[in-house]
Amino acid sequence: MSFFDKFVFLEFGNHGSYRDLRSIKNSKGRMDMNILKISLLLMAVFLMCAGLTLSSVKGEKENNAVNTLIVDVDLGKDTISKHIYGHFSEHLGRCIYAGYWVGEDSALPNTRGIRNDIVEALRKIKIPVLRWPGGCFADEYQWKDGIGPKQNRPTMINTHWGGVTENNHFGTHEFLDLCGQLDCEPYICGNVGSGTVGEMQEWVEYITFDGVSPMADLRRLNGRAKPWKLRFFGIGNENWGCGGSMRPEFYADLYRRYQTYVRNFSGNRVYKIACGSYNENYHWTDVLMREAGRMMNGLSFHYYTVPGGWGNKNSATDFGEPEWFDTLKKALLVEEYITRHSTIMDRYDPEKQVGLIVDEWGTWYEVEPGTNPSFLYQQNSLRDALVAGLTLNIFNSHCERVKMANIAQTINVLQAVILTKDEKMILTPTYHVFDMYKVHQDATLLPSQLNCGEYEFKKEGIPSISVSASRDRDGKIHISLCNLDPKKSQEIRCELRDFTPQTVIGQILTADDMTTHNTFDEPERITPAPFKKAQIKNSTVLTSLPPKSVVVLEID
Ligand code: AHR
Repeated sequence: MSFFDKFVFLEFGNHGSYRDLRSIKNSKGRMDMNILKISLLLMAVFLMCAGLTLSSVKGEKENNAVNTLIVDVDLGKDTISKHIYGHFSEHLGRCIYAGYWVGEDSALPNTRGIRNDIVEALRKIKIPVLRWPGGCFADEYQWKDGIGPKQNRPTMINTHWGGVTENNHFGTHEFLDLCGQLDCEPYICGNVGSGTVGEMQEWVEYITFDGVSPMADLRRLNGRAKPWKLRFFGIGNENWGCGGSMRPEFYADLYRRYQTYVRNFSGNRVYKIACGSYNENYHWTDVLMREAGRMMNGLSFHYYTVPGGWGNKNSATDFGEPEWFDTLKKALLVEEYITRHSTIMDRYDPEKQVGLIVDEWGTWYEVEPGTNPSFLYQQNSLRDALVAGLTLNIFNSHCERVKMANIAQTINVLQAVILTKDEKMILTPTYHVFDMYKVHQDATLLPSQLNCGEYEFKKEGIPSISVSASRDRDGKIHISLCNLDPKKSQEIRCELRDFTPQTVIGQILTADDMTTHNTFDEPERITPAPFKKAQIKNSTVLTSLPPKSVVVLEID
């Protein structure tokens, strides 16, 4: 029996069945044609109303369905490493040159050649760590070409990124100066693909050795008396691809060899990061962990959200709901990848001593029209804010294994947090998410159980809400929430176990249009605003997330 049949039967059940109605229609008895017409009319009106009522009930249910969230305040044990909020900057397009680096002689306000406005903006979001010099560039980089008087530094061809000439004016000293100005930790990626073990050993010695040695003396000659601290060091990048097209067995052996010579000098202790996998390449992770797991502190992982696919990536700003849905669906995949790579790591490292280091992630679209295709310059919209918000929620939630993540790439490349045009600089929606989420840095993850409806599009569905929660050192609870649905608001009832909330405040990032982005003429089209739609009732936090929004609540 169809829904419609059932409905008619229910209505006529006690007085006459559907079959009865047919007999009425055929009746030649006392009921004349007028009565029949009236009956039919009434029935049509009734059915129409019933249909409307049903559909509106259905609609109401969808709009007003209350999603539930339980946050176990008493069960937090893992720390969300602040390094999850890290960045990646490569010698690529306008990330370094015309990004951070303008040179000492620039008319733009700078400190030893590094733009002051950029430093200020990145300090505001508490950038904890910066990865450099690549990326693919790292496995071609000759570090010795980037030290000493600038006029004497040899040039090289940046073969991966447009074949442009690299003048090496931004090298080791400039990078470590930048990290000092940013007050963040450096993460240097060494050259395995085309560099020697000796060169890698000497680089670490040059940076960290306090005593008398050829490299330490050379550093002093170049103006730096004291060694720097260098904790994070990567042994190659994407060595399955641009870093040498290696098989995992071969790279695992190379890793074992190279890492041997990455020494701990003068009290500096290096956290060694092996080149890891990407997407669903689980074999690489398995081999690396099996052959070299005991010799590494971290294993990297790369995941890019590429809507449309590599052959036909979407525009960063010219898109509709199909691309919105596709992008968020693909961004969510990182959770499955992290879980599965982590499960493989568990086999060899059940104590989770080896960190999963997601040192490249972000959206990858077609470049902005008219720009060099090799420079990977793209705009950044509200959609990117949602990608950042949900991705950081996933990293937070897996902080027992994910110890660092680095968005690609800080300035003017891929999912940048800052875009520059000559003296102008804009902060992207992704920047604002990093700003709002900085409260999670080094806070304790609070396990949360979300029960939410789906955001459905063309017969496919993804969860409508993404969440993570933490408690900071002052006892404040922060819940970051994303409503992935671009059309419907989401009501949430949040129970905080073992905690009685007194106050709730928040910030929201949203806009009327899903493509909204900041431009050099209108740099503040989309910025965070105070969020008012959260309240406490009977010790429960009730909130309503507007469509396509990122919200961070602070609960005391
Ligand atoms: O971030 C751009 C490039 O993407 C990096 O150089 C490389 O590691 C990755 O394939």
